[in-house]
Amino acid sequence: MNEDKNSSQHKSLAALVKRYTNRTKASKQFTQLYRSVLADHRVSEGFHLPLKQMCYPIVGKHSLGSRIWDVDGNEYIDLIMGLGINLFGHNPPFIKEALIEQLEQGIQIGCQAEFAGEVAELVCELTGMARVALSNTGTEAMMAAIRLARATTGRNKIAMFSGSYHGHFDGVLVKAKTPDGNPDAIAIAPGILPNCAEDVLILDYGNPQSLEVIKDRDRELAAVLVEPVQSSRPDLQPKAFLQQLRQLTKESGIALIFDEMITGFRIHPGGAQAWFGVEADIAAYGKIVGGGMPIGIIAGKAVYMDRIDGGMWNYGDASSPQVEKTVFAGTYCKHPLALAAARAVLKHLKTEGFALQQQLNQRTSQFVQRLNAYFEADEVPIRMAHFGSYFAPASLGNSSPSKNSASSIGMKLLSYHLVDRGILLRGEGTGFLSTAHTDEDLNCLIQAVKDSVKELREGGFLPNPSAQLAKA
Ligand SMILES: Cc1ncc(COP(=O)(O)O)c(C=O)c1O
Repeated sequence: MNEDKNSSQHKSLAALVKRYTNRTKASKQFTQLYRSVLADHRVSEGFHLPLKQMCYPIVGKHSLGSRIWDVDGNEYIDLIMGLGINLFGHNPPFIKEALIEQLEQGIQIGCQAEFAGEVAELVCELTGMARVALSNTGTEAMMAAIRLARATTGRNKIAMFSGSYHGHFDGVLVKAKTPDGNPDAIAIAPGILPNCAEDVLILDYGNPQSLEVIKDRDRELAAVLVEPVQSSRPDLQPKAFLQQLRQLTKESGIALIFDEMITGFRIHPGGAQAWFGVEADIAAYGKIVGGGMPIGIIAGKAVYMDRIDGGMWNYGDASSPQVEKTVFAGTYCKHPLALAAARAVLKHLKTEGFALQQQLNQRTSQFVQRLNAYFEADEVPIRMAHFGSYFAPASLGNSSPSKNSASSIGMKLLSYHLVDRGILLRGEGTGFLSTAHTDEDLNCLIQAVKDSVKELREGGFLPNPSAQLAKA
């Protein structure tokens, strides 16, 4: 960034900050008012000193369909979509009705939840899994999945792939110790026990050499964790690798755990398992299936899931739980409101069938193609990739998506420009389409991107090839 106060960059940034902070002043006031009492990681997410005046989250007031309204009364086309929750848009009537009905019935926790069995049955039907357990978040579901794998195999180590995210419990908050392909791991942040990393191998996703490492260490491994298409790399969709990994883990008695928090019910009613033709041993779900309520789902083969309750037994005979249990608990597990919403979502997905995902995925593909055609024609150094209805910047050459080859401050500013034009997108440019987004929404979004790029170029924050050509 040019430090000269008279530079076009300074003038352009000052104009944006003035406009942005005026338009969203109540959100900014909210952030400052509560900063001392509210410890909130989202408030300082993406902090960048030159953009500090605009570093605050937009505070939501209400939402409907593809739209959110903030506390200043601004209307946005929302592409954050609850971080991947709102497949059907905000507040769809069939989920709202299910929640209101349940509120009328009360929130009975402690006795068995009326819809737990039906939700389990629907999840089994859609995903092909044998048994289901219910928790509150994706993090909890992944934590339980790993515990089930360790309890069943009697082994300690797990393998996971760099670039994947599996929630925020210590056991998966690790990264490769060195960038040279050595699978040893270290904790990613202060406060995470260093010895959590001792039992984790970090491997390169989609790389056949990773299969060799797993083969060499097969007797030590309880599980291999996979985010089948990583949110950080939607362009990497390694079907053959996943199928080989399935074969290898089956032969070695290692639990293959699919983390389907983003892919589940989005790419296909049966998630990434159905899409790639791979049957995992355990799969974890959340987000979409909760219909906006907090939920985590662990689904898997009986041999693993039986560790939760001891397995199958019947009344009227001599049968009893036969399997030694591990710990699985949580006051709010099977929360009646979450289950009412999940039941409504699952029934809706079942009724609509794969056509729902096919249409939405196809629309996302066309939208991403349009964006990329514009980026290419206008020589903007950004390319988007998508998996189902999730989209994100794809890496250009060897740079990571977050370090897309446009100048990094230009990329950061792009999302502020979009917010200023009524588009809510995560800072790093990732987003989700829902069935509620209209063609008009997508046209508005593409126009907002074009207008933002134009302004960023005028301000000297993005390279301007035609100006450079004219100079030459
Ligand atoms: C792939 C993946 N796994 C696990 C999680 C954790 O889920 P939750 O935030 O519900 O704990 C997330 C959340 O974004 C995710 O994307």
